[in-house]
Amino acid sequence: MPVLNGKELRIVGFLCNWCSYGGADTAGVARAGQPTDLRIIRVPCSGRIDPLFIVKALLNGADGVLVSGCHPRDCHYAAGNFYARRRLEVLKQFLPVLGIDDQRFEYTWVSASEGQRWQQVVTVFTDRIHKLGPAPRLEDSEPLLKIADMALTSLRPLGTGQHVALDRLKEAIKARLPELDCVIGWQQGYDGAHTVPLFMRTPEDVDKLVWGPFNVNNPAVYLPSFKGRKVGIVVKGCDSRSVVELLQENLIRREDVTIFALPCEGTLDMARVNQELGRYSRIDNVAYDEAGVTVTADGKEHRFCMTDFAQGKCYGCAMPLATVADTRIGEPVRVAPGAVTPPELALLDSMSLEERMAFWRGQMERCLRCYACRNACPMCVCRDFCVAESRDPHWMSQDDSTREKLFFQTVHALHLAGRCTGCGECQRACPVGIPILALRQQIARAVGQLFDDYKAGLDPAAVPPLLGYELEEKNIHERDWK
Ligand code: FES
Repeated sequence: MPVLNGKELRIVGFLCNWCSYGGADTAGVARAGQPTDLRIIRVPCSGRIDPLFIVKALLNGADGVLVSGCHPRDCHYAAGNFYARRRLEVLKQFLPVLGIDDQRFEYTWVSASEGQRWQQVVTVFTDRIHKLGPAPRLEDSEPLLKIADMALTSLRPLGTGQHVALDRLKEAIKARLPELDCVIGWQQGYDGAHTVPLFMRTPEDVDKLVWGPFNVNNPAVYLPSFKGRKVGIVVKGCDSRSVVELLQENLIRREDVTIFALPCEGTLDMARVNQELGRYSRIDNVAYDEAGVTVTADGKEHRFCMTDFAQGKCYGCAMPLATVADTRIGEPVRVAPGAVTPPELALLDSMSLEERMAFWRGQMERCLRCYACRNACPMCVCRDFCVAESRDPHWMSQDDSTREKLFFQTVHALHLAGRCTGCGECQRACPVGIPILALRQQIARAVGQLFDDYKAGLDPAAVPPLLGYELEEKNIHERDWK
């Protein structure tokens, strides 16, 4: 007997077998009237619910998703719902960045004897979804491609790194080289305005090492492939956080890695640099000064001021220094207190939910699904078994639709929850320049706000928030179902 009048909406309920499913059953046996919009999927435990189940349902036409498990401390498997609580709360804060109203998703706890509570929960939630109406579909939104320019302020001086004692660094590397298989750094690429990774095995290789705002790659991405071998790496601040995260996840061993660190003064957004340079046949000169770089290509000068052309991640970066290092060269950089929202995220913050959905529709239409974002990510380490390509489990099709592409980006972002160091390699590697780092930045912001300002890549011994729990969470509270 429907409690709510009118057309049914599509609401998916993930219910733990041991409590909430029993609670729904108790409500049914007691003939407690309930809305008929809910389609229940029974799961062994709320801890079994991957947040991606919820995103997939919402992207594929569900108007609302309700998750219900055993009350905290009552989980049949002791702690499944404690882990679920953290994941689901992070997801709730993540959904709006996709343009999905977080009111369309809720989670709660109902025990097998609480038929009445179940009736209340499902009625209140269904009522809420009816008030919101049918969920907007990604495919129905008008693609939004126009991007507003965001104000750029930085927490530290951005520069070209030309005062760094590169010679001292080279000497330090040469001194350690005999005991290492190789040292990873950067060398000039096909011209003076581009760099590529450098694998130094001889002193002659070390002489090719360069330092400056064109050193955009994160060399930590190569470290797992050297596992078990002695390897050195030259890092910027953000690169060192990736090294710490790899150590934390036991993907490399500290005793095998020698870290050479320099203070970073920011790196250039190569997508914008390349756009400004346009087509050219030769670089005549690259001149550095305090504020930026002047590149002369085919006789024409192009000015790249660091305050205008740095990567988005550099403006909010408060860690120009390596978090862990064996050899440090150069003077510490002063960082102003406070926080700056990176421009990619600030852009999405400035939009309404509808605009965000339209924005992702437009961006995903441009996505080639080349997986460059995944392959460049130092923390995306299971790419041989990536769910994006797996047939078992078959999480997503190879369909070239905006929905599947956005779902892939969501998979990548959620798999990095509490692990992403914000190095921005995903965005830098994107051949069409989609600002996908914003998705990771939103998750990092949610994780920081919920879990004592936690930041990935600072402490190799830290337990990532989504791998732990508190019996009483400081910042996560049960919602009122009245
Ligand atoms: Fe019900 Fe774990 S068994 S939440």
